[in-house]
Amino acid sequence: MIEKITELIEKLERTHSLSVEEYELLLEHRSDETAAILAEKADAVRREVYGNTVFIRGLIEVSNICRNDCLYCGIRRSNKSCDRYRLTKEQILECAEEGYALGFRTFVLQGGEGIFSAEHTADIVRELKKRYPDCAVTLSLGEYSRDEYAMMREAGADRYLLRHETADKAHYDRLHPAEMSFDNRMRCLRDLHTLGFQVGCGFMVGSPFQTLRNLALDLRFVEEFSPEMCGIGPFIPQKDTPFGNYPAGTADMTIYLLSIIRLIKPNILLPATTALGTITKDGRERGIKAGANVVMPNLSPLSERKKYALYDNKIATGDESAQAVEHLRQSMAKIGYEVVTARGDFVR
Ligand code: 5AD
Repeated sequence: MIEKITELIEKLERTHSLSVEEYELLLEHRSDETAAILAEKADAVRREVYGNTVFIRGLIEVSNICRNDCLYCGIRRSNKSCDRYRLTKEQILECAEEGYALGFRTFVLQGGEGIFSAEHTADIVRELKKRYPDCAVTLSLGEYSRDEYAMMREAGADRYLLRHETADKAHYDRLHPAEMSFDNRMRCLRDLHTLGFQVGCGFMVGSPFQTLRNLALDLRFVEEFSPEMCGIGPFIPQKDTPFGNYPAGTADMTIYLLSIIRLIKPNILLPATTALGTITKDGRERGIKAGANVVMPNLSPLSERKKYALYDNKIATGDESAQAVEHLRQSMAKIGYEVVTARGDFVR
């Protein structure tokens, strides 16, 4: 069997494409051996495009207030134990100021859905672009209409992160309340692309009810949608949610998928996520070694950081941002990668 799997990996490397059945087979035959082969190829490919550089994004968690009720998420509307906050425009600009001084050239405004109007968002984006014309602004604020996305884009936003969560509609419906729709999520992703955003989709690994078939569909979706970025991380239960007692996804499967995604899209911007770093101590380092090339340190005010708890035990070391960046530089240097100060755009 290992010959067959090695052949599949070589085919993926050559053609950047497999059928859903082939992806599923590749996932079924994950072992230390196949993972090592994939990671080595993925790392070689990322080095061809991006060298040994790691891009950093300054993550500003603007609010944990959310109108949605996703069954897996700690900041879901029904979670009454969540202590809610919303940063003011001034607070956001302060975070950016601190981040700029630390060398960040991308700011990511991430938050619960439906809290920032498109107008308010556009206003903040304009101010950020005015103060820091050399920086990229990424938004990660959920679903809006096409016109609203257009307003944000016109204000100067460069990128948008909106995980598709799962490419299987039936699975999507088991993770979300009835008022949320897979089709609208897909509509949003398409609109963002046609408006000229660099777009990031993504999914959780090991979410409740997920099958290898589901993951194979996610990979096929990445192939077909061709996003500029893709955020994946293990599902981690949050105790105040309906999925609080479900098992977490694994670092091994997440890292395996990172390698596959690198081979599907050699130039993709691929973060080693906080969730991966949460599930195992050296998760982010292992992700980088296996094909990821982005990390997103937290620039949110220390006072609010713990409140942005999508899942339990999220790493919020209490480190000042400056300290966190220094740690990151060192831990990346130790494994042979270099954290760089650059906008870190997608390379066509
Ligand atoms: N575990 C891991 N990831 C989660 N997300 C939300 N809740 C969890 C959880 N319990 C992810 C979702 C969402 C992003 C903001 O965080 O994929 O899109």
